[in-house]
Amino acid sequence: MNHERIGCDELRGKITSAEHAASFIESGTTVGMSGFTGSGYPKAVPLALATRIKAEHAAGNPFRIRVWTGASTGPELDGALAKADGIEFRLPYNSDPVAREMINRGEMEYFDMHLSQVAPMAWQGFLGPLDTAVIEVAGIRPDGSLIPSSSVGNNKTWLDRARQVILEVNNWQNAALEGMHDIYYGTALPPHRLPIPLVRPDQRIGEPYFRCDPEKIVAIVETQAPDRNLPFAPPDETARSIAGHLLEFFRHEVAKGRLPASLLPIQSGVGNIANAVLGGLVDAAFEDMTAYTEVIQDGMLDLLESGKLRMASATAFSLSPEAAARLNADMARFRDKMILRPQEISNHPELIRRLGCIAMNGLIEADIYGNVNSTHIMGSRIQNGIGGSGDFARNAYVSVFMTPSTAKGGKISAIVPQASHVDHITQDVQVIVTEQGLADLRGLSPKQRAEVIIANCAHPDYRPALSDYYRRAREHSYGQQSPSLPGEALSWHQRFIETGSMLA
Ligand code: COA
Repeated sequence: MNHERIGCDELRGKITSAEHAASFIESGTTVGMSGFTGSGYPKAVPLALATRIKAEHAAGNPFRIRVWTGASTGPELDGALAKADGIEFRLPYNSDPVAREMINRGEMEYFDMHLSQVAPMAWQGFLGPLDTAVIEVAGIRPDGSLIPSSSVGNNKTWLDRARQVILEVNNWQNAALEGMHDIYYGTALPPHRLPIPLVRPDQRIGEPYFRCDPEKIVAIVETQAPDRNLPFAPPDETARSIAGHLLEFFRHEVAKGRLPASLLPIQSGVGNIANAVLGGLVDAAFEDMTAYTEVIQDGMLDLLESGKLRMASATAFSLSPEAAARLNADMARFRDKMILRPQEISNHPELIRRLGCIAMNGLIEADIYGNVNSTHIMGSRIQNGIGGSGDFARNAYVSVFMTPSTAKGGKISAIVPQASHVDHITQDVQVIVTEQGLADLRGLSPKQRAEVIIANCAHPDYRPALSDYYRRAREHSYGQQSPSLPGEALSWHQRFIETGSMLA
């Protein structure tokens, strides 16, 4: 490679191979990696490290590290290190299938946490020291400042906190990313914390580059490797129905004067349903919308292209390969409409509350009182993690959760008597939508909530059993605020574990 992305002469001397760079990482140490969804994660050093770990294990030497990231990453990072049995501890979010299985087998410790809290907690110190930062960047400027890549995540914090820094300069990343980022350096710990001066999603409050002490940089590796996000399936009938109910709700809220005609800044979780909602917004009548969200996914790009979405603020791209190619071919047209920020800012509770975001996230199950489980299958198996859903749900202007009413071919009801694990308490859940309908829970007591959730959201195969449970709970419950039958409340989950179906 011609090193043209490395503009700083002083740092060119540190260009080396991925294998040599990986040799700086010791077993038992903590490594902060870049990466948020399949974007902007290092693609060469973790692979080289995985190879080294396998060789160490073959020689009888234990070798495992602690891995911190922005969120999920790609197969060359989480996948490769998990396959090599090289991760002893992981935070803050994972969607890699190999790592997920290891966590669920008890072979990897996993701290699933609110994404806005990772950087502040790292600064508070109780996560322990950060030994190495491995950060993908799009380039190095002559003054040594770093051009961020396709995700920002926790990179600023890892660069500041790590004892040593390894950089991957990825020539595949579009050079026109330069200038798109807004890196805010004004955060502090209490009692020195000040208000964050952001009052509009399109506002810039920081600088376009990362600062990095050149003395800490021990290796620079050049790569030419694509981000790896998964393709999106076209929305199916279920996703389209969910989107339809939600868009009808937005129209109703605008008509009632409870939302402006341009809506409020939207936050959208990832996945096919979220994408279907964004797709629906392309054809809806709302104009001049903005997004203050975590990731820019395919649907968001379509919305920008349609002109309905004026701008999007996020911490990362999460684009299918096709959409990434579309963006890269036409970056000049999109770049002024997008801002990528550190995740402690994209997900900051203060800002989400101030801007009045409309939060839209997926769920695994909700109970009849509106408590939501986003993370644990049958109460014990982690799926991904809470991600940014808690940051947004608690602080949103309207907090929406969306799901098909059943999972696993109808063998599981997404509406259950009692959630087997709770990530979002009923007070943080204002609207639940399934393909069956929408439950607007705002201002309702628990018993009123139960009635509307069962009637509007539950699948017809499960609705009679839910109504029957609720009726008996009202007759026999210890208290009448949130009637329940503790001995029976989780019996649907137990039945699934024993028989493979929640159906009686
Ligand atoms: N019981 C058992 N399994 C369930 C289930 C339930 N009630 N609901 C969903 N699942 C399974 C699905 O079958 C699927 O499994 P598979 O991968 O083996 O096919 C998997 O969970 C994903 O579900 P899917 O229906 O494809 O939905 P999704 O991609 O929208 O994901 C969440 C749903 C909840 C897992 C996902 O939204 C998530 O991880 N949320 C937490 C983080 C978050 O909200 N991030 C965004 C914040 S900005």
